[in-house]
Amino acid sequence: MRPLSDAATWWHNAVIYQLYPLSYADGDGDGTGDLGGIIQRLDHLTDTLGVDAVWLSPFYPSPLADHGYDVADYTDVDPRFGDLANFDRLVDEAHRRGLRVIVDWVPNHTSDQHPWFVQSRSSADNPRRDWYYWRDPKPDGSPPNNWVSSVRGSAWEYDEASGQYYLHSYLPQQPDLNWRNPAVRAAMLDVLRFWLDRGVDGFRIDVAHRIMKDPQLRDNPTNPDRISDYYKPINDEYLSQRHIHDRAHPDVHGVYRQIRALLDGYDGDRMAMGEIHLADLADWAAFYGTQSDELHLALNFWLTGAAWTPTAIREAVEAVEAALPQGAAPTLVLGNHDYHRLASRIGQAQARIAAMLLLTLRGAPLIFQGDEIGLTDVAVPEDRRRDRFGEPGGRWSRDGARTPMQWTSGPHAGFSPAHTEQTWLPLSPDYERNNVQAQLDDPASLLWLYRRLITYRTASPALLDGSYASVGGVPHACLAYLRKAGSDAVFVALNFGDEPQEVDLPGAGVVALSTAGTRNETVEGSVRLAANEGVCVELS
Ligand code: GLC
Repeated sequence: MRPLSDAATWWHNAVIYQLYPLSYADGDGDGTGDLGGIIQRLDHLTDTLGVDAVWLSPFYPSPLADHGYDVADYTDVDPRFGDLANFDRLVDEAHRRGLRVIVDWVPNHTSDQHPWFVQSRSSADNPRRDWYYWRDPKPDGSPPNNWVSSVRGSAWEYDEASGQYYLHSYLPQQPDLNWRNPAVRAAMLDVLRFWLDRGVDGFRIDVAHRIMKDPQLRDNPTNPDRISDYYKPINDEYLSQRHIHDRAHPDVHGVYRQIRALLDGYDGDRMAMGEIHLADLADWAAFYGTQSDELHLALNFWLTGAAWTPTAIREAVEAVEAALPQGAAPTLVLGNHDYHRLASRIGQAQARIAAMLLLTLRGAPLIFQGDEIGLTDVAVPEDRRRDRFGEPGGRWSRDGARTPMQWTSGPHAGFSPAHTEQTWLPLSPDYERNNVQAQLDDPASLLWLYRRLITYRTASPALLDGSYASVGGVPHACLAYLRKAGSDAVFVALNFGDEPQEVDLPGAGVVALSTAGTRNETVEGSVRLAANEGVCVELS
């Protein structure tokens, strides 16, 4: 057991593990993960990996149209996952192990089954009508404006009973809340208080930039160059517009200032990190606030869409560093439950480079559940698909990255008890070979590399809090940078290619860590990298 870090700014450099509750561990044998299962497997996060915080994707009551991102009650636990007593136990157990707990907060929309929406929909004069966006059709019966959903088609759904449309930026089962209504704001801030009072250390804010829209709901202009300002695989219709009116209205910053004040009013160490999909880095960075008075961390998604080359990565890191307000910590996301698996995008050899990159850049690294054992996308057969964002019959679906965690080579990969009929999504066929236990038994595994990197980082002032500077003049296949805090300097060199390379060093040092195994050798003037090898050199 280790104590909780008492640093008021623990989130600045915390290693955060994104846990997808449906697929982490199934304690009760119904084929879906649950809080009991998470408690049983907390040691993986603390003893094996040694991360600082866990972010739990939604576990709230939900019809699961969007797998929990359609919340039907913000202040309870879905019975599939357990109950509030299980949640309290989870927080206690995590804190006892020195692990912070971050929960997902989904402010842009509720489920269409949420009592607020059920009431809002019940009649045009219901007091909750204005909690959502209801508008009359245009004279020709078409939707009130040209906004399109991030999933597909118009963002407006017609309601026969009242003859009006309601707005949904995602699925029709996810109606958008009207954040301009003070009662909505008050109710949603109460949700934050509810979880803060239960002891959570922070929130991950779902699509944080979307909650404020143009007050007049004006049409978006077209996007003739089809330049994507979104880092997700996005549909053509969405790409056909410039999204200047349907999200990120400047009034959004007032909301985050209010939330920051609320968090600061607690013990001073509660945090919020926002999912911000805005390609304009000034717009993105604005979510930190002008005086560190908004979000603690604004997640940046540039690397999820960038080519996996040293040049593209260097450009992204430098641009993000340059855009950050003074004193702010970055988070460059490599993957999550919305993207193809990291190892599928870049291959297993480069997944080791990605691990070193992630854990040696400045800021708070996010590890998506399963990436630490190199899980790849699973080909989920049509009849077992769950994700409604993918086109029916289409190739793309997010299910492939959401399959159950592979713990052992036993029945259901140790995810569900042996007697379980079927796991909610199919397991990867490789689970007998690739699982946590097998990787624990192999010190050369990716899991051991993650573990070593986290241990090393935790003891390194340069990696925790040091400055970042790119290093030029290295071979094209390589990326090199220097992290420095006082006299502590770590030179990171990563080889993205299949050929060995030699990288010049600004002096002498010791290879403290390699993605390829133990080296522990002294180097001077240059360091040799094998194909697909990355090293951390401690400069003397
Ligand atoms: C976020 C979530 C994604 C969800 C969407 C709508 O992008 O990460 O899973 O579908 O918001 O809530």
